[in-house]
Amino acid sequence: MGERFEEHLPSVPGLDPNVANSARVWDYWLGGHQFYEADKAMADEIERVLPDIVAQARADRLFLSRVVEFFAGEAGIGQFLDIGTGLPTSNNTHEVAQRLRPDARVVYVDNDPLVLAHARALLTSTPQGVTAYLDADLHDPDHILDEAGRTLDLDRPVAVTMLGVVWHIMEDEQARRILGRLMGRLAPGSHLAISHQTDEVTGVRARDAVEMWNRDAAPKGVWRSKRQLEDLFGAVGLELLEPGIVSCNRWRPETTDLLPDEVDQFGGVGRKP
Ligand SMILES: C[S@@+](CC[C@H](N)C(=O)[O-])C[C@H]1O[C@@H](n2cnc3c(N)ncnc32)[C@H](O)[C@@H]1O
Repeated sequence: MGERFEEHLPSVPGLDPNVANSARVWDYWLGGHQFYEADKAMADEIERVLPDIVAQARADRLFLSRVVEFFAGEAGIGQFLDIGTGLPTSNNTHEVAQRLRPDARVVYVDNDPLVLAHARALLTSTPQGVTAYLDADLHDPDHILDEAGRTLDLDRPVAVTMLGVVWHIMEDEQARRILGRLMGRLAPGSHLAISHQTDEVTGVRARDAVEMWNRDAAPKGVWRSKRQLEDLFGAVGLELLEPGIVSCNRWRPETTDLLPDEVDQFGGVGRKP
């Protein structure tokens, strides 16, 4: 059954193909090819409980593009730290940023062995810019900043993107510590974008899906409410930009004529004053 789609995957030390995993399941929902049978089974099971999960994943990637365009354009930022990068897909952060600013410098961070194995696809910088990849755990923000500081000038504003990854920080207190430390060491004018699983739209279905995920997949995750996410930005000293925390497909959409249906993946952007 599943062997065919697994044949082309590289042999990767530290990877357990029998446990569904965040980077690979996400890739499956995005229409990619880097997943194993256990990932597909979990992804399909979750989709039965939460049919809008594929729309969530795709809305999240479009949110990434709009946010990075905002950072590179209106906000005038040329340095990016993308934590919880995921498997390479279309419109990766450096591609979006360097279309607007060919000199953009981007550091990618993930701790997944398959993402590391594919990191070369993220290192296709313009000649004027730079991309770097760091195999690191977001629970160690000082290590991430020490290493990112080799590529980015931390005395100037940095745009941090943490899309679909803060939900892997289980405790609010821990999330405040990690984000507080990251943003605390960055220069004023730095920004943080988050997208996060909530239960705002589908309620019990979203909560059941997270419970299902935590029974068999890794790493574990937690849904948070819009209110919890607003509090998180406030607690780490960031000013939430308009329109605040919203369904990520409604964050500064390209057209406001006909807004898309909301999805449970909510997102927002904060600025360090
Ligand atoms: C759901 S994917 C999101 C990928 C991408 N940011 C996006 O929005 O399309 C979550 C990513 O976070 C990574 N991740 C999970 N826990 C992590 C941790 N403790 N440190 C670094 N990365 C982590 C996973 O490996 C995966 O690639």
